[in-house]
Amino acid sequence: MTSEPELVRLQKVLAKAGVASRRAAEEMIVRGRVSVDGEVVRELGTKVDPDTAVIRVDGDRVVVRDDLVYLALNKPRGMHSTMTDDRGRPCVGDLVADRTERLFHVGRLDADTEGLLLLTNDGELAHRLMHPSYEVLKTYVAEVEGVVPRGLGARLTSGVELDDGPVKADRFRVLDSRPGRAMVEIVLHEGRNHIVRRLLDEVGHPVRRLVRTAIDDVTLGQLKPGSLRPLTRKELAALHAAVGL
Ligand code: URA
Repeated sequence: MTSEPELVRLQKVLAKAGVASRRAAEEMIVRGRVSVDGEVVRELGTKVDPDTAVIRVDGDRVVVRDDLVYLALNKPRGMHSTMTDDRGRPCVGDLVADRTERLFHVGRLDADTEGLLLLTNDGELAHRLMHPSYEVLKTYVAEVEGVVPRGLGARLTSGVELDDGPVKADRFRVLDSRPGRAMVEIVLHEGRNHIVRRLLDEVGHPVRRLVRTAIDDVTLGQLKPGSLRPLTRKELAALHAAVGL
């Protein structure tokens, strides 16, 4: 048996989602800044089902379901990108073991790779973020061996052949260069296994250390290894836009 959806006034839903006070949300509605399921709504009496309504403010998707959780984690080196580990190795599930939601990680980082990993219980968003067709950009900083020649960026952005097919970097830049090693930043829109390590290996610059610093507009910032933070409304709006939600 399906129960009747519980309809709630739009300004209350927006206020609960932290967009604005109820009064300010009313102002936004009257000014035509709010849409529900693709239609601009200016009526203050409008009620919506927060479980299903697609609500946007100034075009930005607002997540109004209060059961959905979105976290950014700075995964430390040595930790596995799994929710449980039957061999008792440290895994990201350990960091959220006390939470009641059934969270999962969006994609993976190698155990040796550090940096940004998203955790959520939003299956639709997670699925799209991982799906290659949406080409979500991921930024990595790598410490590599060797002196990076001029022209490496052009080679990486024009495409390099790997065992399982070609890969193209979207952007590449050298951040720092010292005798025998360099720090580089590389942006890719795909997520095949060990892709950054394999790519940089292929062009003669094995990776010594690898950190993912951003996924689309979500950046690692000052988040400490092993720490989590909730995504901001702006970040969530950007992620939804990146995958057409
Ligand atoms: N590319 C890699 O080689 N490793 C990661 O963990 C992520 C991207």
